Amino acid sequence: MSVGHQNAFDAAADKPFGALVTGATSGIGLAMLRQLLDDSRLGVVFAVSRSASRSEVLRPLRETYGERLVLLDADITDEGDLEKLRDKVSVRSETLDWVINAAGILHAVDLQPEKTLEQVSRVNLERVFALNAFAPILLAKALMPLLCNGQAAVFASLSARVGSITDNRSGGWYAYRASKAAQNQLMKTLAIELARRNRNACCLTLHPGTVDTPLSAPFQARVPPDKLFTKEKAAMQLLEIIARSTAADTGRFIAWDGTDVAW
Ligand SMILES: NC(=O)c1ccc[n+]([C@@H]2O[C@H](COP(=O)([O-])OP(=O)(O)OC[C@H]3O[C@@H](n4cnc5c(N)ncnc54)[C@H](OP(=O)(O)O)[C@@H]3O)[C@@H](O)[C@H]2O)c1
Repeated sequence: MSVGHQNAFDAAADKPFGALVTGATSGIGLAMLRQLLDDSRLGVVFAVSRSASRSEVLRPLRETYGERLVLLDADITDEGDLEKLRDKVSVRSETLDWVINAAGILHAVDLQPEKTLEQVSRVNLERVFALNAFAPILLAKALMPLLCNGQAAVFASLSARVGSITDNRSGGWYAYRASKAAQNQLMKTLAIELARRNRNACCLTLHPGTVDTPLSAPFQARVPPDKLFTKEKAAMQLLEIIARSTAADTGRFIAWDGTDVAW
């Protein structure tokens, strides 16, 4: 943390602290949501996914935390959904201190990461880019008015080390790698504009490590046990980075251990 800049928690000490988490029904996003709700410094937390209001895992949290937890359904690849999302958040809160984008896709029933060039298809590239690359910047666009009230806001989006072009040694996973690389460039560009609009804001791109979630489950066989984080540990490590971050950190691509990842 650099001298002269306040982090979001310090800056928000005298007012309710608001956070929004996408990908809140599963994996790292769900673990982050739980830890945010457990923190008494947090006021309202908005939990976003396509199925938040119907989620069996979120229902008990809603019962425990009541009005502090707001469940919002949105497909964040859809600009109409994102506008509605902003309007619903604005009803409860004029500002957001933290926006954490933890939605992402690597595989689905009808989608596997490519092992060879022959498996690359336009339809899969577009599907993966829609969520991993386009959604983060469209989410930022939709929520920008809530992030630019002069507060020490953080917009943090989960990327992946495999999106690093420098670090690409093994190939494969064309759509996932390229979508994360595209996200990284979009977030870096956002950081530059955000600094002009709110000099106290910070835009971070984060690599969580390999984490035991549905997204990584089919690909964990060759991951050594000590390199596979629980989602609780990953969430804690990332929230610590976000909590420590200030405007001086904006534009960084940071791994779970606080080190910078090469672009
Ligand atoms: N797990 C790892 O090892 C790992 C490693 C590096 C990077 N990451 C990154 O970390 C992030 C989180 O990964 P994870 O492992 O926690 O994934 P996950 O368990 O598969 O969770 C993905 C979340 O995204 C939501 N989602 C999917 N499509 C959506 C859409 N169109 N609109 C809104 N929400 C949508 C899902 O909820 P609904 O289905 O309800 O919408 C779910 O809550 C991803 O960006 C991933 O690339 C993960």
